[in-house]
Amino acid sequence: ATVFKILVLPGDHVGPEIMAEALKVLDVVEECRPAVKFERTTDLAGGCSIDQHGVPITDAVLEKASQSDAVLFGSVGGPEWAQSTPGPEHGLLQLRKKLDAFANIRPCEFLAPSLIEASPLKPEVARGTKFIVVRENCGGAYFGDKREEADVGSDLWQYSRPEVERCARVSASIARILGRDGDGKGGGGPAVVWSADKANVLASGRLWRRATEELFRAEFPDVELRHQLADSLAMFLVRNPRAFNGVIHTDNTFGDILSDISGGIVGSLGTLPSASLSGVPGKGRCNGIYEPVHGAAPDISGKGVVNPVAQILSLAMLLRYSCLLSEEAAAIEGAVAHVFKSTDAGGLGIRTRDMGGQAGTREVGDAICRVLREALRSA
Ligand code: NAD
Ligand code: IPM
Ligand code: MN
Repeated sequence: ATVFKILVLPGDHVGPEIMAEALKVLDVVEECRPAVKFERTTDLAGGCSIDQHGVPITDAVLEKASQSDAVLFGSVGGPEWAQSTPGPEHGLLQLRKKLDAFANIRPCEFLAPSLIEASPLKPEVARGTKFIVVRENCGGAYFGDKREEADVGSDLWQYSRPEVERCARVSASIARILGRDGDGKGGGGPAVVWSADKANVLASGRLWRRATEELFRAEFPDVELRHQLADSLAMFLVRNPRAFNGVIHTDNTFGDILSDISGGIVGSLGTLPSASLSGVPGKGRCNGIYEPVHGAAPDISGKGVVNPVAQILSLAMLLRYSCLLSEEAAAIEGAVAHVFKSTDAGGLGIRTRDMGGQAGTREVGDAICRVLREALRSA
């Protein structure tokens, strides 16, 4: 059997609750596909690691991560670690840096047309939204030199040309894979890439624009590139999300914010997955960190009501990018859509509260496993 080494870092609060469901889904894949094995190691990251070891992630865990094929990450943080420096979130940043996971891919779409009702937007505005935020993940203000004193706080927001270029290569490659038709097979030619920056104010933004423009001209002349200032893009994205169908190519800070706006568009952060890759997708296996866009949701943890789907779809991304198991990834996505879809539309209509349903975390996870098992057995 082909063996993939997966480091599992459930994290804090809802992290372990959603991770338990994702691991059940992985069990089903393993059960139905005897030719692949997932060798799993579970460890600490975030607040739980601070409690145990005094730091949000240990060197030993970082080392294990670099020796794994992929890291499945839950979510970290919570009010109980508000006073600790470094905080739980710093562990995640160290992990991204250690794996050089420079491209954070965050898709936003409705899993089924009947889920448009979960959006706060008018159905005619929300319908058909399908874009992917590609967020630079190892540079910018997050990783620039810092100064932290009683009365001064500063973060150097800096980019170099190679940092922008490698992210631009991922954005353009994703645009080719996604396609203008959004079918994931490049249908209709490459999708449009929207580059979001603040070139009107920030020197780093002017570099972002220049380096992206030149890279596309040299290596991706077939991919249409459009520039939009990040602030107005945020406004248009809410007013008419479909206008950005394709790829949004942006820096670390703007990408963080724009990907949470995605949660507002679909109605909940609970379904949005992400992949942080250390290479260009479509060119063989990538190492990566797979985690929900959302955080540790301390306001709802411990109640069995958290939506596990962002974690489960992050697992699907892991199978696609780190294991090249695209059929199994698509089967998971299909199972999620079927479970969520309304009964009118032929689905099961099983949803957590954030999606307007009443089901608990485990109920949703179990239903996805059931549907997936059937799909994988008959395929
Ligand atoms: P959050 O994303 O944790 O929660 C925002 C809101 O969305 C909350 O009301 C929450 O209940 C809801 N929500 C989030 N995920 C949900 C799900 N799966 N199902 C249903 N509802 C869901 O953001 P926050 O409250 O600002 O941050 C809480 C903590 O998480 C902070 O410490 C923050 O730093 C951390 N955080 C961690 C990560 C990560 O580990 N990747 C990401 C973002 C935030
Ligand atoms: C995210 C989170 C992280 C970020 C935090 C927890 C470090 O908000 O993954 O979006 O800001 O990148
Ligand atoms: Mn965020």
